[in-house]
Amino acid sequence: MPARLNSTLTEQQIEGRKYAFYDLATGYPALPFDQELAEVVTMWTRRSLDCGGHLSARHWDDPDVEMLLKEAVGSLLNMERDVSRRIRATFSGSVAVDRVFAAARAMASATSKNGLTAIVAEPSVDLFRLLLYDRSDFKVVAVQAGPGHSAGASHEDLLIDALHSEANASPDRQILVVLDSPANPSGVVTAADQLLRLATECGRAGALLVVDHCFVLAGVHAPRRLPTVFDVPAEACDWVGIWDTGKTIDLNGDKLGFIMPGNGRVQKAVDLSLSMIQASAARRSLIVFAQLLGHPRLKEHIAQLGSACRTNLDVIRNRTPSLDLMATPDAGTFACVRRAEQEHTGDKLREIWLAAGVSTVSGRTFLSTSGPCNRFVRIALARSPSYFSEAISRMAT
Ligand SMILES: Cc1ncc(COP(=O)(O)O)c(C=O)c1O
Repeated sequence: MPARLNSTLTEQQIEGRKYAFYDLATGYPALPFDQELAEVVTMWTRRSLDCGGHLSARHWDDPDVEMLLKEAVGSLLNMERDVSRRIRATFSGSVAVDRVFAAARAMASATSKNGLTAIVAEPSVDLFRLLLYDRSDFKVVAVQAGPGHSAGASHEDLLIDALHSEANASPDRQILVVLDSPANPSGVVTAADQLLRLATECGRAGALLVVDHCFVLAGVHAPRRLPTVFDVPAEACDWVGIWDTGKTIDLNGDKLGFIMPGNGRVQKAVDLSLSMIQASAARRSLIVFAQLLGHPRLKEHIAQLGSACRTNLDVIRNRTPSLDLMATPDAGTFACVRRAEQEHTGDKLREIWLAAGVSTVSGRTFLSTSGPCNRFVRIALARSPSYFSEAISRMAT
């Protein structure tokens, strides 16, 4: 079990929202839409709520909305048609992750496996671990693979070593390898050849590869296209991809999570896991996001988000000598920082900066054991540059 369940990432974000003037803790982007996109949201929200209208009179699983959503997500994330037709929508990123873990258990039961082992790449969002700790039949193996953690060996080598050793030690267990790319908070991206290598090794070991791509569109890399598991051939292994809207579009809490099973067997298990909960996310969200994700202006919004993240990263890298970066992020919407030449823990730094009016997240939440991340805090780059500069000037004094 984690040492301090009372200080999760979410709790730190809630505390920050209560007490700080500047919120650099929340992971969702805070950049308003332009007028055209704002009008799309307003118009489709109104239409979806219109009880007399033909839209809401239809059944929740209206094939038009489902098809529009699949087409929009498939095209945004560059999926082949046979991947996009398997997309499943649910309430949020966390629900998508939770349902994928439930699907892994369904797959293990279907093949009479004797327990489950989840190999989790760290640093990563604590949600992965916390949802796994909820399930007493899952053994969790953390592999520290981020910047500064893996001298000599690559991120993927370490995961593959752990996979081999778990598969040899307990051949009767279902193994899952869980990673995010870009990673939260480090921004590390798993390259296409490494994803394929991991998938091939998972295939040999009969393991399920779970890749969370929630930051793949937004961040310092945008609009550069990043490699995804969606390009891994279905025959390489059982894989499942995850993406959610929240890290690209902040609609005041309205969001959707998507699960992309790589083949029919995984899809069957995902469908079973989704059928254990409420049938569908709000019809309003399905309709609004189908319009928004398919809208040509969204690409411009993503490009602007990327440009704001780069401008803000530059403030730290080149104009704030009193702050050190853990590493320059390759992608994503975060940076990990600390005070130059000081030996505080991430927890202490977070406390100091909260007292100065800026909320951040302690790097400790991203690790189950100690590691370099513990001496940093995570800050969100997806803010308007003026807001971000003001927050950083408070942190720099
Ligand atoms: C990698 C990753 N997946 C999923 C989530 C959860 O997403 P949501 O806020 O939509 O529940 C997060 C939240 O930060 C995340 O970092």
